[in-house]
Amino acid sequence: MLLKLTTLTAILPSILAANITVTVGQNNGLTFTPAQITAAIGDVITFTVLSRDHSITTTNFAGTVCPPPDGGVGPNGFDSGLWVICLSINYRIHMSTHSLSDLDGSQPNFRYTVVDAVPHFGACKQAAGGHCRAGMTFAINPNSTFTYTQFLANARAS
Ligand SMILES: *[C@@H]1O[C@H](CO)[C@@H](O)[C@H](O)[C@H]1NC(C)=O
Ligand SMILES: *[C@@H]1O[C@H](CO)[C@@H](O)[C@H](O)[C@H]1NC(C)=O
Repeated sequence: MLLKLTTLTAILPSILAANITVTVGQNNGLTFTPAQITAAIGDVITFTVLSRDHSITTTNFAGTVCPPPDGGVGPNGFDSGLWVICLSINYRIHMSTHSLSDLDGSQPNFRYTVVDAVPHFGACKQAAGGHCRAGMTFAINPNSTFTYTQFLANARAS
């Protein structure tokens, strides 16, 4: 019994690491779904881009929120680069940070492995911040000091 518990403890972290799915531009909207993500260190967040031209980019909580800057705001920030999806002819090009590897029609994925427990705020950088100001924003591990509601208000006003 003791041996089994020890073995279980050793493999628990990899079993417990969650894979969290977020859709980007669902129903052709300017949305991240869900917009608020709670994730532990080691969890993998997979953003799947469903429509139009979007990026997944970390930005400031307040002040200059929109547009998020190229490369994102850190520490431990990220920037997927801009995804362009032409639905009419069903081809997908991922510009900037990746090659044209998505011409096969698969839905582009951007994966981020959580490396800290602090709040991160992000948005789409398309349209010079227009998508961001329209509310296309998300938060990873917002807390009672840095809430998603306040971040969204800051984005709309920036
Ligand atoms: C998450 O994905 C990884 C890699 O595919 C897998 O090893 C792991 O078991 C998955 N975890 C959960 C909770 O689904
Ligand atoms: C929220 O996160 C910030 C940044 O890490 C931290 O300074 C602050 O103490 C946190 N607030 C709460 C209530 O946990």
